[in-house]
Amino acid sequence: MNRQADPITRSMETYQKEIAFAAAKIKTFIPHFAENFPGPSSVGGIYPIRPNEDWTSSFWTGMLWLCWEATGDDDFRRAAEAQLPSFYRRAYERLHTDTHDLGFLYTLSCVAAWKLTGNQEARNAALAAADLLMERFLPAAGIIQAWGNLNDPANRGRMIVDCTMNLPLLHWASDETGKPTYRDAAISHMDRTLEHIFRDDHTTFHTFFMNPETGAPLHGTTAQGYADDSCWARGQAWAMYGLPLGYRHTHNPNLLHRAAEASGYFLEHLPADGVCFWDLIFTSDNEKRDSSAAAIAVCGLLEHASHLPPAHPRHRLYEDAAMRMMNALIGGYVNRTREESSGLLTEAVYDMPKNVGVGESCIWGDYFYLEALVRMVRDWRPYW
Ligand code: GLY
Repeated sequence: MNRQADPITRSMETYQKEIAFAAAKIKTFIPHFAENFPGPSSVGGIYPIRPNEDWTSSFWTGMLWLCWEATGDDDFRRAAEAQLPSFYRRAYERLHTDTHDLGFLYTLSCVAAWKLTGNQEARNAALAAADLLMERFLPAAGIIQAWGNLNDPANRGRMIVDCTMNLPLLHWASDETGKPTYRDAAISHMDRTLEHIFRDDHTTFHTFFMNPETGAPLHGTTAQGYADDSCWARGQAWAMYGLPLGYRHTHNPNLLHRAAEASGYFLEHLPADGVCFWDLIFTSDNEKRDSSAAAIAVCGLLEHASHLPPAHPRHRLYEDAAMRMMNALIGGYVNRTREESSGLLTEAVYDMPKNVGVGESCIWGDYFYLEALVRMVRDWRPYW
């Protein structure tokens, strides 16, 4: 295991080689998953086969689209397209749609299909998913409820930092339909996130409750972090990526300003090799890393840098930090087996408090690692 800080080098050849390795591995597993999906996290490096029911289904589909873009091999396009009917059914029959993660689910499957191939059916299903997401908007609170049925007492009025990544679906829906309501909801939710999820020290709560009737802010708690007042690494990484994506859609400079604060905290709390612990409260090498948070953070830093002029001091800072993390992931966190193990990035943590997916591959970690590689080698047009 390479735990040293890597020199900051952007080696196109290395990134191309890693894309080729990832694509070959993913291709090996196309017949295995076929119209199904890897589960959220691996068990012993091997993903279980799941129907389209989890919040994570689209990460595999998104990887297939990335591979198609990166290699031009039509097997990847066919494999991605074979997955789309289950997304259509899921939206139209409202199967497992009590979640704000409709954004992840439909952006990486159907929006990607529409953007890359002009697939009208996929566009319509993504718009249906945006409508379902709008049903979760609580007008008095101005937020999208994260989890569960809207009447579920455990989740009523709860928003979570991850949702910043679900908002691009709403911006896209406004762009497609010309109706401002989707974008208005996205902007309102982002504003409430900045007000209540972000703390004065530039860390983030994982989840925050609002009173759904009066709109009053209540309190922050964690679900997957170490403590309510600690900084769950993946939550911070979602913010580092979600805010620059919000900027992409709104050009609100405050989003880059706040993303810079969150990124600054994240970068100041990394171990020597640049791959974060699962919660940023930790400093001891005995703690588990979360490689998936590192991969998300790399994408966030590259997205952020893309909105800054090349001469801006943070442009270089973020590109360098992203490369350092990427080089560490490549050097020490890639599962190099091709046939035996479907996981790509090792040492992710899904849910430490529940002891699920600890020290395993997580399918979003694999997705964002691959997206980061693609971002490193080309001027990539985001599905987000
Ligand atoms: N969005 C759920 C997670 O990051 O685990």
